[in-house]
Parts: sequence; C-alpha cells; structure tokens
Amino acid sequence: MSEAKRSRPDESDQASTLDRRGFLSIAIGFVLSFAYLGTALRFLYPPSARTAETQKVGRPDDFVPGKPRLVTYTGAGVGDGVYIVRREDHWDAFDLHCTHLECPVGWYERTGEFLCPCHGSSFDISGRNLGGPAPGPLRRHLVEVRGDGVYVGGLIT
Ligand code: FES
Repeated sequence: MSEAKRSRPDESDQASTLDRRGFLSIAIGFVLSFAYLGTALRFLYPPSARTAETQKVGRPDDFVPGKPRLVTYTGAGVGDGVYIVRREDHWDAFDLHCTHLECPVGWYERTGEFLCPCHGSSFDISGRNLGGPAPGPLRRHLVEVRGDGVYVGGLIT
C-alpha cells in the first residue's frame, strides 16, 4: 500500500510542472509574437528609399528591354519581389504587391499586363492600373544602373 503511494507523483510536483510549462508557453508566445509583429510591421511599413539599402540584382545585359523580370530585394530586411523593367530610355522597378490588398501580381507576356489573381486588377508595363479594384498604380522602388550593375532600393512611391 505504501509502495503504491510512493509511485504516484506528488500533487505539488504536478502543480510545479504545470507552472513551469505554463511559464514556458507564455514566454515562447511572447518571443514569437514580437518576432511576428516585427516582420509584419516591416512588411506593412517598409523603410523608405532613404533608409533602405540598395542591392545589386544583376547586370544590365541580364534584362531584356520591354520584358519585366522578377528579382528578390532584401535591402529592407525581408525578401520582397520587385519587377525590373528595362525600357529604351529608362528603368522602372515595381513592387510585386497589388495596391488593392497586397496579393502578388504576375506579368503576362501574352496580354502585356501585370495581373492580380485575387480580384482581377490589371496594370500596364508602366505600372498604371487599368482595371479592377486596385486604387492606384503599382508602387515603385528606387532603381539605378551603376557601372556593370543594376541596383534596387526601397520604395519611392
Ligand atoms: S489584391 Fe489585387 S485586386 Fe485585390
């Protein structure tokens, strides 16, 4: 009888274990919440072109005039898609996200438009919105050609 009593865990040990588990769960929850909040704020409020780093995304010859090419820009702290558009007389860099509800737009060669799969907004090769619920043109990133490199920076619009 006393043997059986010894093998059962003490109630105070169980309470202590639950307290430690509860504390660890709360601590991990706080850490994850802050990490998620930081990432979400960087996404919603990315650094401007003045504070974001510029990043080399290729050489000028890597970009075919009139054919948008998607690159990854990490200068604002998180990986973000940017379409680089080489034109005859200038370069454009458009943020991947639709100005309606931030879905990623895709370039469709056949129609010559950026199309948003979520609610059907479309944008021309200059980023102007052509149709759908998007309230404005695609946002622009800083883009510069320096020497043998094409550099992308933070958002400028
Ligand atoms: S998110 Fe692009 S049209 Fe709604």
